[in-house]
Amino acid sequence: MMKVKRVPLLAASLGAVLILFVCWPLATGSHVRAQAPSRSTPRGTRGTTTSGSSTDRPIVQHAQRMMEDGRQIFRYDTFGSEAFWGDALQLHKAIAGAKNGGVGGGVSPKVALSVGLKVDADALPDALKQQIKDGKVDLDDPATTLALLRLKSVVGVTGIFDANGTLRSMGIQCAFCHSTVDDSFSPGIGRRLDGWANRDLNVGAIVSLAPNLKPFTDLLGVDAATVKKVLASWGPGRFDAELDKDGKGFRPDGKQAGTLIPPAFGLAGVNLHTWTGFGSVPYWNAYVALGEMHGTGTFYDARLADRAQYPVSARTGESNVRSTPDRVTPKLAALHFYQLAIPAPTPPVGSYAKDAAGRGKAVFEGKAKCATCHVPPLFTEPGNNLHTPAEVGVDAFQADRSPTHMYRTAPLAGLWSHEKGGFYHDGRFATLNDVVAHYTALLKVTLTDRERDDLVEYLKSL
Ligand code: HEC
Ligand code: HEC
Repeated sequence: MMKVKRVPLLAASLGAVLILFVCWPLATGSHVRAQAPSRSTPRGTRGTTTSGSSTDRPIVQHAQRMMEDGRQIFRYDTFGSEAFWGDALQLHKAIAGAKNGGVGGGVSPKVALSVGLKVDADALPDALKQQIKDGKVDLDDPATTLALLRLKSVVGVTGIFDANGTLRSMGIQCAFCHSTVDDSFSPGIGRRLDGWANRDLNVGAIVSLAPNLKPFTDLLGVDAATVKKVLASWGPGRFDAELDKDGKGFRPDGKQAGTLIPPAFGLAGVNLHTWTGFGSVPYWNAYVALGEMHGTGTFYDARLADRAQYPVSARTGESNVRSTPDRVTPKLAALHFYQLAIPAPTPPVGSYAKDAAGRGKAVFEGKAKCATCHVPPLFTEPGNNLHTPAEVGVDAFQADRSPTHMYRTAPLAGLWSHEKGGFYHDGRFATLNDVVAHYTALLKVTLTDRERDDLVEYLKSL
């Protein structure tokens, strides 16, 4: 995808100032609420913030600051990506619609929710919530979507408005793909769940709304119809983070080439990240912020200059990006810290059979040999947690798109929260039963029906 070298700084910061001005009371309000102690407070940190010696205190204060900065970045930082999503693709115009200064029919809240976008209920004023409840808000009107954007309530999307209130541009955040909401207000509207994989989000459908697909057609050297075909192939919950490096729109067998959006929680202690172990969390965050979100900053990885494996990035120079201003590097530390602070969510009471899960644990750690790779409590190997495609019994297509040519042992905590879309990197196994059936054949272990069911209940309990 096109590398945008410069951001219209003045205009962008003007937009940011305006948004800050318009949403100030609201933003501070939700900020305060977000910091209230919640179920997701990591257990180990309780009680440590107020105590400690004079030499401990700076560390605790640093941790607190990093966590808060990181959360802000994860939720709201566009890294300057408005230069791509808005200025280049003109996606904001398709969202606004002709009636609101854009093009076409516009995107109503109903349509936005139907492609998996989520709304942060904490960012909505109480009066507005009441009006929605009373059916007084037109959810078929794109103007309502613009109002939601003005309130910074659309998870992972920032609208940039001019002084007349016209949507001028838009950028995206990490939360776009790696957050969802708890549906506490209504389906798609609720409290934020940071780190959860948004398996409803149809990234391809959203991108293909863009009036200008030239950045993609130029990059990939194909026509707009082909780009749209690739975007339509992913479906909900999938995205292809290697397309802009190797240009592979489809697998050799003609199937879609995207991977499932993984969760960004429960990652502390895990060595390598992504399905194929590209690198660490901060490695990948820089990769995504520059290459996928199209922010401005610095990214370096000589592996991506390999002409045979990465013909596109070898040509575009995406292996060594130095665009200014650098809006990514100064944020990587806090962003990393915040992700490591997000625990994997515990499964709801009653979502699995307790006794069976207890027996399943013994199967997982014993007879079925799962724990040799999924080592509890990380459920991945301490060390170099990679395996050849043959070791896990799948084809090499996705592994070969990574410098590692391997698959990473997926950490399993919080598995219950991302069952939608299936399992393994591309969702090839629709259910946990299918996963277990795959392994019993591959590892040549014979399980009784009850052992198999117990194992599945255990997986649901993680
Ligand atoms: C357009 C959707 C999208 C956006 C935006 C996005 N990601 Fe991702 N993320 C993905 C996909 C897809 C993968 C899997 C990539 C792969 O394995 O090739 C991934 C992988 C990850 C992983 C690896 C998790 C693991 O251990 O398996 C982390 C961590 C992550 N993303 C964090 C972030 C952060 C932080 C941001 C913002 C800078 C971000 N992502 C923005 C879609 C997205
Ligand atoms: C040789 C190491 C190894 C063994 C043994 C192993 N796994 Fe895995 N597991 C992996 C790897 C690697 C992946 C990622 C595969 C991919 O993304 O295509 C994975 C993925 C999974 C997933 C999908 C996770 C997700 O987020 O989609 C589940 C569930 C799982 N394993 C359960 C098990 C169970 C149950 C067993 C025992 C029957 C087991 N594994 C044995 C290495 C292993």
